[in-house]
Amino acid sequence: MDGGPDLFGHNSLAALNADAEARYPYREGITQLVPGEGPADADLMVVGEQPGDQEDLAGRPFVGPAGQLFDRLAEKAGLPRDRVYVTNATKHFKYEPRGKFRMHKSPTLTEIKNVRWWLDEERALIDPKVILAMGGSAAYALTGNKKDMLKRRSSVETAMGGRGEPVFITVHPSFLLRLPDEESRAREQERFVSDLKDVWKMV
Ligand code: URA
Repeated sequence: MDGGPDLFGHNSLAALNADAEARYPYREGITQLVPGEGPADADLMVVGEQPGDQEDLAGRPFVGPAGQLFDRLAEKAGLPRDRVYVTNATKHFKYEPRGKFRMHKSPTLTEIKNVRWWLDEERALIDPKVILAMGGSAAYALTGNKKDMLKRRSSVETAMGGRGEPVFITVHPSFLLRLPDEESRAREQERFVSDLKDVWKMV
């Protein structure tokens, strides 16, 4: 729980989010910050990297292409999406303007560390049985481990601080969207579905 204001002690997500939004250090060029969403008593917390272009506009996590793919694969895995709390390592859309487009830019490790207090308190309030880290930024925010994601995929690590929840590591859905050919996309999506089934068994 290093860095950032000591925000602990909120008794609701609404109170946390209001306070956190007032203290959040990054907001250049954004429409709005995007807090987590889902039932406050969820047993499974899913953590991504950061809101994308569509999430920034909507103010809700995982509504764009990566989120839609996640929803489809979650359904395939039998994971009840309405019982899952979804959030991100950072809560602002970081991008580089290119013409009329806003090109996604990953947050740095320092940026992730500087806003980890928000994620840490989401963990404290939700108190999930297990956390699914999708991609390197989420895995780093939760475990402090920045080693190669692909080697850690489908393994279970321990969250830093808090209750030391189990953190199931998988790839980010945008990795699946970026794969160039049909065959690797199908194979990797199958593996992602299998990860979702495995993490749901831990609930
Ligand atoms: N990618 C993420 O990691 N989170 C979102 O909310 C959307 C896209």
